[in-house]
Amino acid sequence: MTRDPYRIWISEIMLQQTRAETVLLRYDPFLRRFPDVASLAAASLDAVLVAWEGLGYYRRARLLHEAARLIMQRHGGIFPSRFEDILALPGVGRSTAGAIASIAFGLSKPVLDGNVRRVLVRWLGEVPPMRVLWDEAARWVEAASSPGDWNQAMMELGATVCLPRAPRCLACPARDWCRAQGALAGEMRPRKRPRPLALIVRLYHDPARGIWLVQQPQGGIWGGLWTPPLVQASSPPSRRPDCVHLLTHRRLLLFAESAKAAPQGPGRWSREGRFALPVGIRRLLAAIGWENRL
Ligand code: ADE
Repeated sequence: MTRDPYRIWISEIMLQQTRAETVLLRYDPFLRRFPDVASLAAASLDAVLVAWEGLGYYRRARLLHEAARLIMQRHGGIFPSRFEDILALPGVGRSTAGAIASIAFGLSKPVLDGNVRRVLVRWLGEVPPMRVLWDEAARWVEAASSPGDWNQAMMELGATVCLPRAPRCLACPARDWCRAQGALAGEMRPRKRPRPLALIVRLYHDPARGIWLVQQPQGGIWGGLWTPPLVQASSPPSRRPDCVHLLTHRRLLLFAESAKAAPQGPGRWSREGRFALPVGIRRLLAAIGWENRL
C-alpha cells in the first residue's frame, strides 16, 4: 500500500465516478506515463486527456491537470499536507480531501461519499441532515487509531457489503451496532412506502428544570431513547407538521403541542443535553425555537 500522496490523489479522483474494476485497468498505465506531480503539470492537457481514456467524466482530468500546475506554483511541486490546502485543489471536494488527508497523512478527517453515507444512515436507523452525517463520520474517524484505514474500510463496506438494494447483513462486521440490521437483510428494493406516521409531541417546559422526557419502549420507534411524550395521531391534525423527518423506512410528521398541566407518570426533566435525543426530536425542537430550553 502506498503513502505517496500523489498516487493516492490520482486514485481517489479516478474512483470518484468510476468503478474500481475499471480504475484498476487504467491506474498503473496512467502512473507510468505521469509518475509525479511535475510530469503531470508539464504535460499538455491533450496528453492527460488521452491517458484518461476509458475513465469517463473528463472534467476530472482537466481539473487534475490544473491542480498539478497549481501544486507546482503554490507548493513548489510538493503535494500539500495541510487539509485546507488539499481541499483547495481543483476537483477535490470535502470527502476526497478527507480520503487523501487520512490515507496519505494520517489526519483524522472524515470521508462521506455515497457509500459511507448509506452505511451511516443505516447505523443510525434514520436519514438525518447532511450536517449530522458529517459530524457522525467525524466522530468515528476521530476515534480510530488509523484514520486512513478507517475511512477505507467504511468505503469498502459500503461498496461490497452494505449494498443499496440487497445489503449482506449476515456478512457484516458492523451488524452489532447497526440499527437497521435484520430489517434490511435479504430485502430487495423497498416495496411500497408505508404511510407517514403522524406523531404529536407533547412539550412540557419548566424554566428551572428543562423539558420533560420519557423513555420510549423497546421495539417501537426510537426504542429505549428519551423523548418528550409521544402520542400517535389516529388522524393527522389538519395543520402542517412542524417538522417532517425521514427514517429509513418511515416518514414522520411531527406536531409540537405545548402542554400546560404538570406531566404525569414516569419520566424526568432534562437540561443541558444530558440525554441523547433522536435527531427527529432535535430537529423538531429547532424548528419551533425550543433548542435552548433543553
Ligand atoms: N472509493 C474511493 N476511494 C476509495 C478507497 N480509498 N477505498 C475504497 N473505496 C474507495
